[in-house]
Amino acid sequence: MSDNISGQPLPAAQPVPAGQGAFVGQVAIVTGSESGIGRETARALCAAGAAVVLNGRNAERLEHTRQGFVRAGFAVVSCVADVTDYASCERLVAAAIQAFGRLDVLITNASISQRAYFADMQPEVFQRVFDSNVYGSVYPLKAALPHLTRTRGSVTFISSISALNGMPSGSAYCAGKAALANLAHTLRLELDHTGVHFGIVHVGFTQNDPDKRVLDAAGQPVLIAHRPARWQKTQAEVAAIILRHIRRRRRRTVISALGRLIVVMHTFFPRLGDWIVLTTTRRLRHFYE
Ligand SMILES: NC(=O)c1ccc[n+]([C@@H]2O[C@H](COP(=O)([O-])OP(=O)(O)OC[C@H]3O[C@@H](n4cnc5c(N)ncnc54)[C@H](OP(=O)(O)O)[C@@H]3O)[C@@H](O)[C@H]2O)c1
Repeated sequence: MSDNISGQPLPAAQPVPAGQGAFVGQVAIVTGSESGIGRETARALCAAGAAVVLNGRNAERLEHTRQGFVRAGFAVVSCVADVTDYASCERLVAAAIQAFGRLDVLITNASISQRAYFADMQPEVFQRVFDSNVYGSVYPLKAALPHLTRTRGSVTFISSISALNGMPSGSAYCAGKAALANLAHTLRLELDHTGVHFGIVHVGFTQNDPDKRVLDAAGQPVLIAHRPARWQKTQAEVAAIILRHIRRRRRRTVISALGRLIVVMHTFFPRLGDWIVLTTTRRLRHFYE
């Protein structure tokens, strides 16, 4: 069962897959799932029995990912949509409902990252990065909420450990990712009566697709900072943690020992934490860029 929904008539509702797995009978949208962690999270959901709507902005790359999933026998459709555009998000959610008839899981994973210092950054670049991380979660959720309420479903915002304390060269990205933590908390309080799960996953350093680019101060795509492989989790490891977070309906998951160390430092030893960041920024500048 598969279809490419980009600009084409939507298929009639299909039965969601039967069989075994923690997500059998459930339908998920994973934004930004044409590549990277989103793609591997979508793959893990499919392997656990879910029907999944893949999403991205690049039609060619999205189709390539979709075809790989179809070859694996997974229940997927794809929808080209920019998640910073509300009308596109309505289309994305409609794709899930028309293809599979329901929606249980929303993972807002799409994001633009940066490699730029605030003083150098063009204001519109700050806005692009910030919007992709904030409105890129708000708009899909606004469009999906009535359907998620019906199924008492689950929402997971993908954030970063760099949002836990802030990181030089990541101002708009960290600010956007940090906003998601408060958004999740507020919605948990405001929408408690709905039974919908609102959670956030702070992802740590993870292996990247070779073609992953982030924005520089002028908005040009550039390679991300090099980090030693031993510091990084694989995308499949991160995907497995995200699925566990959803299954257990956890409020917050912080991935990696470094992430948990940042939480401790930020909470109990904030000045020492900042001293470490400032010292390492001077000595290991390339690590932050
Ligand atoms: N990799 C890490 O080390 C790491 C660490 C901490 C947190 N994270 C978080 O994990 C998530 C996935 O990261 P990743 O490393 O897998 O990055 P990635 O490979 O760049 O994947 C992000 C995907 O989102 C898409 N996207 C961006 N803006 C979009 C928009 N407005 N509408 C639709 N799709 C959009 C990107 O497409 P385009 O190519 O078109 O932009 C890309 O396909 C992100 O939220 C990221 O912040 C990653």
